[in-house]
Amino acid sequence: MKTIAVLTGAGISAESGISTFRDSNGLWEQYRIEDVATPEAWARNPRMVMDFYNMRRKQLLAVEPNPAHLALARLEQKFNVNIITQNVDDLHERAGSSDVLHLHGELKKARSSVDETLIYKINGWELKFGDLCEKGSQLRPHIVWFGEPVPNIMIASGIILRADMVIVIGTSLKVYPAAGLLQYAPSAAPKYLIDPEASPEYHVRNLHIIREKASIGVPELVEILRSEK
Ligand code: OAD
Repeated sequence: MKTIAVLTGAGISAESGISTFRDSNGLWEQYRIEDVATPEAWARNPRMVMDFYNMRRKQLLAVEPNPAHLALARLEQKFNVNIITQNVDDLHERAGSSDVLHLHGELKKARSSVDETLIYKINGWELKFGDLCEKGSQLRPHIVWFGEPVPNIMIASGIILRADMVIVIGTSLKVYPAAGLLQYAPSAAPKYLIDPEASPEYHVRNLHIIREKASIGVPELVEILRSEK
């Protein structure tokens, strides 16, 4: 069986009703990264950070996977599919994808603020002050903030290096190290980029750009791949 690596970003969840970050009206137009998505913000104003992620989590409980997430799950009938997502939502898992690597953390989990290996599932939408890890310290959102290392990046680059094909969906490819992953793909491997605003400037061999919304472009590509002999 051939292996397909899929790198997803906020655009794949946009049609489920989750805002992207850098589009007009995106989250980073409404909030400053420095206020809600850095370790310094957590040290300075943890309540604001906590509220920001509690709101994101509340919203996540009210949305569903869309046809793009569902199509990727169907792709497993014919290929080994490794999903690498920058998203902190769980829509790939809820759509049925079985192998999902989160680069930037997971909204539905919390982690210890003194020991990053202590990770807990959050029940419901609210993480509260006074919710403690087993070492007695406050739990924080399990999110990789700007300025923090991305622990899963080595696993992700290994997946891309070994892939027979790479599909990139709904990401502005502006945030490193995730944005550099495509460079690790074998040059002979076909690569597809599905994003209505995809820039024509990527210097990657065998790259096919599909300027469509994820809910259209992903199911179409998946059906073509599934029907190929
Ligand atoms: P961005 O908001 O930077 O980019 C979203 C991309 O999705 C853009 O290229 C849009 O053109 C595209 N898009 C919008 N609607 C779409 C649709 N219906 N179908 C397909 N594509 C669509 O989001 P990311 O690239 O995911 O990190 O951002 C990367 C990281 O920056 C995020 O993981 C987050 C953010 O800051 C952290 O918070 C650590």
